[in-house]
Amino acid sequence: MDVQEVDRLTEAALAEIGAAQDLSVAEALRVKYIGRNGLLPELMKQMKDAMDKRAMGQALNRFKVSVTDALVEKKAQLEAAAKTIQADAFDWSLPGRWAPRGRLHPVTQLIERVCALFRRMGFVVADGPDVETEYYNFDALNTPADHVSRDMQDTFYLPGGLLLRTQTSAVQARYMQAHPPPVRIVCPGRCYRRDTTDATHSANFHQIEGLYVDERVSLADLKSDLDHFAGELMGSGVKTRFRTHFFPFTEPSVEVDFSCHMCGGRGCRVCKHSGWIEIMGAGMVDPNVFKAVGYDPEKVTGYAFGMGIERLAMILFGIDDIRRLYENDARYLAQF
Ligand code: DAH
Repeated sequence: MDVQEVDRLTEAALAEIGAAQDLSVAEALRVKYIGRNGLLPELMKQMKDAMDKRAMGQALNRFKVSVTDALVEKKAQLEAAAKTIQADAFDWSLPGRWAPRGRLHPVTQLIERVCALFRRMGFVVADGPDVETEYYNFDALNTPADHVSRDMQDTFYLPGGLLLRTQTSAVQARYMQAHPPPVRIVCPGRCYRRDTTDATHSANFHQIEGLYVDERVSLADLKSDLDHFAGELMGSGVKTRFRTHFFPFTEPSVEVDFSCHMCGGRGCRVCKHSGWIEIMGAGMVDPNVFKAVGYDPEKVTGYAFGMGIERLAMILFGIDDIRRLYENDARYLAQF
């Protein structure tokens, strides 16, 4: 072994290090050349046999320094390259990360559906305040001062003759007072009653009111429009049934049942084996209501209806307890 040979080995090692393409190769070369059992310690052992120990020592030092430097540089280079590859890399096969997707509350969904349905029938959507006067919620709707629904037990009263509206019917009177006939409106909104919460009652719930006033509007219009509504909402084949009832603001008044959409009217758990489900109250607008809002009952007639949205949601979506709609359990609500 002489100095030239050491220099040749140095060149060969540097060439090999220069050609290394990844970190594991560079590390293997470090072990091979300057590792504890590598070439350098081996060459050192031969120092004692060298003719010119000084020149040999220098040659071995050149080997050590240049190989070490080359390895340090190579590793730094490969590490930097690996980083840029990582940053640029896009693995198209990786499964995506799902962002939770928001959706409309079932009550909102239904309000939108019902409103859209009536819009197609020529109705417009009207709005009124949650905090109402006794006048619009009761008096204008032909509801006498001694009517049960005006009881403190039923209604949330506020100071100054105000209350939280108990029914969206209050919007009827407001709207008619502000608009001359003809009128065709639906009014969705919150209502409030002093009800103790249970599976089917809530002190705060939603209704949709409908009102159609024009010359010669008849009970037949109410029936045919609600028949159409029933079919559109619950599926064709769903029939309606009108039972006489009493509401202060309509005469005659009816309660409207839809044939059960679950069993087709044969009787099941949803319709409590009757084949019918009560959906809403309705009737022909009482002449006293027209008088209260300044319409001439000799000239116009009209029909009105009102239904509870939560109730409708429970029937349509098969929800067994109204409280589930208000517990804000997104996992539950996301089903609808
Ligand atoms: N407001 C009534 C209620 O809350 C529902 C209702 C019945 C509305 C008959 C109407 C109607 O417009 O004509 O029970």
